[in-house]
Amino acid sequence: MTTTGAGGTGADYSEKIPNNVSLHEDRRLQRALESWQPNFLNWWQEMGPALPTRDVYLRTAINVGREGWAQFGHVPMREYRWGIFLAERAPGRTIGFGEHKGEPAWDQVPGEYRSELRRLIVIQGDTEPASVEQQRNLGATAPSLYDLRNLFQVNVEEGRHLWAMVYLLHAHFGRDGRDEAEELLRRNSGSIESPRILGAFNEETPDWLSFFMFTYFTDRDGKYQLGTLKESAFDPLSRTCEFMLKEEAHHMMVGTTGVDRIVERTAQLMVEQDTDDVTGRGAIPLPVIQKYLNFHYSVSLDLFGGETSTNVANYYTAGLKGRWMEDRRRDDHRLTSDAITVDALTEDGEIGQTEVAAVTGLNTDLRREYIADCQTGVSRWNKILADAGLPQRLYLPHVAFNRKVGAFAGIEASPDGRKLGTDEWDRHKANWLPTDVDKTYVRALMQPVYERGKIAAWIAPPRHGINGQPFDYDYVHLS
Ligand SMILES: [Fe+2]
Ligand SMILES: [Fe+2]
Repeated sequence: MTTTGAGGTGADYSEKIPNNVSLHEDRRLQRALESWQPNFLNWWQEMGPALPTRDVYLRTAINVGREGWAQFGHVPMREYRWGIFLAERAPGRTIGFGEHKGEPAWDQVPGEYRSELRRLIVIQGDTEPASVEQQRNLGATAPSLYDLRNLFQVNVEEGRHLWAMVYLLHAHFGRDGRDEAEELLRRNSGSIESPRILGAFNEETPDWLSFFMFTYFTDRDGKYQLGTLKESAFDPLSRTCEFMLKEEAHHMMVGTTGVDRIVERTAQLMVEQDTDDVTGRGAIPLPVIQKYLNFHYSVSLDLFGGETSTNVANYYTAGLKGRWMEDRRRDDHRLTSDAITVDALTEDGEIGQTEVAAVTGLNTDLRREYIADCQTGVSRWNKILADAGLPQRLYLPHVAFNRKVGAFAGIEASPDGRKLGTDEWDRHKANWLPTDVDKTYVRALMQPVYERGKIAAWIAPPRHGINGQPFDYDYVHLS
């Protein structure tokens, strides 16, 4: 069966690997991917969702057109059709920035940028399976079948994102690419011998508050990284990332509304019981929510790297990785003479700023776009508190707080941006980051609710179901 959309870009479902990249025309590539596929399925079996299920109501990408790019239905997760999809080619696309600006985009990898491009793809690819591993055990404590389904949806799509990166490695990087594709399955989140590449992807996701904070803050880093790779002069990478961003929107929604619903439930109990402290009353207290937010936000800021980076400057100049919304920037898109103010320690070690060449400050530029976006979530959550008539507010901590990467890695700072001595930090950190007591409390709340239409006491039900289905739909059949 061939599913063809308006643009003629539908996937061929008669093939083992659904794709819109004419895989059948390249027997070598097809065989390479077919031999990687069993390894992927083994990895999924061992490191993917641990909860046994019969089937799950999942969205499957079947096309890349504007209309009807996905279908919904109950499928056994192991039989999910992980496919390879590139957004449609923009005819005559030219490079939008850097020293090759205005030249035709590349269909093949230029020899001089081969190792840099491979590195960028591997780093992105490594995060995709990592989050599946981090979330492996969450099914055991899902607050509802709706949430369980959303977890699995995010997991299968992160699996598809791994496929997307592995396709690029196999199709464009020869032997090295095939080796890297194997390594993507060999590294594991939190492993001592072969951990995932980036720090935040080795942290555990032990409870659903962490899961929602992760999908809000850490998945959102992914959105911004994909946004810069979508600008790439290497057209297959650009088109792959453009399509991934479509799926990513759902991951953002899961995080945003997940935290919404937790805040809503907490606010409801605070009002009903006329108390600030809902500990022991079945909900998560606001100060604990704030501490989880502080943690996930600060480790996600680290993912953007140091304030200045000559590597990233070189990627930009070469056309490999652009800026967020590159075509909306009102400058020459070469950045040969612009400047940017970045965070830095002053000469006497205080929290301050310094001016650098714009092209070396691109990590800072991207991190600032991300921070502004994160603020929109906090505003939503605060509106929920305000609407409940409560005076408390959530906030994003200062950029220097709890950082392990960049200018502030060597100092301690309070959430309001005061530099602290080690003693002061040690005395206060339990007020700012989740303690063992907080984690134990949150975990104790995490009792599974698998009954249709029922929900755990610590979270409000969603306003809408998935794909027009009601909240009490049978989203997951357990086995
Ligand atoms: Fe992803
Ligand atoms: Fe994601």
